[in-house]
Amino acid sequence: MELQDAINGRKSIRRFLPKAVPKETLRKILELSARAPSAENTQPWEFYVLGGETLDKIRTDNVEKVRNYEMPPPEMHHIMVERPKGSVFRERQVEIGKQLYGLMGIAREDKAGRAAWVEEGFRYFKAPAAIIIVAEKSLPIEGTYLDVGAVMQNICLVALDFGLHTCIENQGITYSEVLRKHADIPETKRLMAAIAIGYADPDFPANKVESRREPIDHIITWCGI
Ligand SMILES: Cc1cc2nc3c(=O)[nH]c(=O)nc-3n(C[C@H](O)[C@H](O)[C@H](O)COP(=O)(O)O)c2cc1C
Repeated sequence: MELQDAINGRKSIRRFLPKAVPKETLRKILELSARAPSAENTQPWEFYVLGGETLDKIRTDNVEKVRNYEMPPPEMHHIMVERPKGSVFRERQVEIGKQLYGLMGIAREDKAGRAAWVEEGFRYFKAPAAIIIVAEKSLPIEGTYLDVGAVMQNICLVALDFGLHTCIENQGITYSEVLRKHADIPETKRLMAAIAIGYADPDFPANKVESRREPIDHIITWCGI
């Protein structure tokens, strides 16, 4: 696949087909993706690749916590980012939410429908596999996030080359204690990102989402060029 096609073709997929992804394919995707740059080649990332019964147990426990309105543990507060009220960032957040709920036919006042949709993220959108990116807690979180972002984008792009789609999701790492328990992730490692991965369900309404981008000239300042 051409690079530009991959960049244009990548989108968040929120329902996957019940079709397993071969372990060797996932290994290859991670091997290629780990060619990502990192500050001073520190390569802070490590991957926990979840599937089968392990992933099913995690989905079940996640959903139970969501239904009980459990908050994420303090160690996960780094993913709980509030966008300033009235800011363009909040506007964009609302816009994508409206688009998704609109496509799913879930009305604003339909509390049960909204809650059921939120649960889907905690089920990794029924993906046959999920990749959890972790990094040592001894590393500073700021720079590590940049490095993890690079490898994360690689995973999403390389996946396309194997006919796979992805959804990066904070929901997938919200309940770190669930992941630690079932995937045996030690306390010394910080959970940085989750990526649901699998074959996209082409007929699922939310998969038809087309996220908008700011026109590029709004966000470039040319200096000396
Ligand atoms: C760090 C990060 C966390 C995200 N967390 C979630 C999430 O918890 N649930 C979800 O449905 N999408 C999540 N997304 C996907 C974004 O909503 C999505 O990338 C954005 O709306 C742009 O849409 P696109 O990926 O289809 O271009 C996340 C993306 C990133 C980069």
